[in-house]
Amino acid sequence: MTVALTLSPPVPLRAGAILPLSVDDSDLDTPALLVDLDIVDANIARMQAFATREGFALRPHVKSHKSLRMAASQLEAGATGLCVATASEAQVMAASAAPDILVAYPLIGERKLERLVELAADRRLTLVTDSLAVTEGYRRFAKSLGTVIRVLVEVDTGMNRAGAVPADVSEVAIDVARGDGLEFSGIMTHAGHAHDVTTQADIARVARLEGSLMGDVRDALEKKGLHVGIVSAGSTITSPYLRASDGITEIRPGTYIYNDLRTLGRFACTPDMIAPSMLSTVVSINHDRVTLDAGSKTLTSTKDSEYGYGYLPEQPSATFTRMSEEHGVLSIPQVQGSISVGDRVQVLPIHACVWMDLQPEIYGTRGGVVVERIQIEGMRHSL
Ligand SMILES: Cc1ncc(COP(=O)(O)O)c(C=O)c1O
Repeated sequence: MTVALTLSPPVPLRAGAILPLSVDDSDLDTPALLVDLDIVDANIARMQAFATREGFALRPHVKSHKSLRMAASQLEAGATGLCVATASEAQVMAASAAPDILVAYPLIGERKLERLVELAADRRLTLVTDSLAVTEGYRRFAKSLGTVIRVLVEVDTGMNRAGAVPADVSEVAIDVARGDGLEFSGIMTHAGHAHDVTTQADIARVARLEGSLMGDVRDALEKKGLHVGIVSAGSTITSPYLRASDGITEIRPGTYIYNDLRTLGRFACTPDMIAPSMLSTVVSINHDRVTLDAGSKTLTSTKDSEYGYGYLPEQPSATFTRMSEEHGVLSIPQVQGSISVGDRVQVLPIHACVWMDLQPEIYGTRGGVVVERIQIEGMRHSL
């Protein structure tokens, strides 16, 4: 038998395999990333209902799924646009029906902006700045295209990653608002530091501060005569604590579509709301040491204080003891007889978004059966 050599990454599901198909079918190689589509549908509907009820526009961050199929489901459910992390992700999402795509990252250099020519020309693009230097690059880009580009100013509400501190926002915003190729559309923030605290009360406190600081910045800008149309904030874990009365107009959660053990540990979901799992095969057993064919290159090295590198719902006593690149080593006390070499197990993710960046395609399941092949068009789009 000859196997054709291809330069694109191999995929677990045999070409031409007929669906639906059992997760134990040999046409499905492992490791294979599964997503439970009933849970995905429910997660999308729940967040959309929350946003609608609270009076927020919902602009999902697609870095969590990197898939046009998932973006289409979010837009059909009522999302008003999409958020991306990189210019090349925006290029991928240009093929979606999103009327507006926000690149939530300060873009430096012609090579990045070149990727956005089509979206800018179609007026489907919003950019983010936190400095006069970044804004200047956007202005040159807009003028070279003879178009007007919408810009949000990023506010640092405590994450200390990017963004102007509240006191410095007006200088950046006033400069954007002088126009000349740009349109000042409002402000945005990401309170990612909510992941650094562990109690629900502390997460609520970070989120409430995120909301009130954004409201204060909006008021200060409006006093200076600027119209702040968009006030964008809110992740999967902070959105539940934000209020339109703070002045927030839009939320940008990403992970909510899938959820993971991080969002579970931050009170944003319950175990039955976690959609992804890595289908893996047991390749070696020695007493209570059970080794899987998924290691750090698949499950990643993201570690959680409670769940280590992941959790096996069907083997709740299993704990990961070490990770090699292609081997995940578990300890399962009293494992004898309950699991054999060749068995397949499912591992829940600590952080679903990083899993999605490593797979060319994933598999949608319903009722535990594979029903859909899903392309990840945005895989490794970090430029
Ligand atoms: C700028 C920005 N907005 C929104 C999000 C969405 O966060 P989450 O996936 O926690 O909902 C992120 C996550 O990294 C982000 O960086």
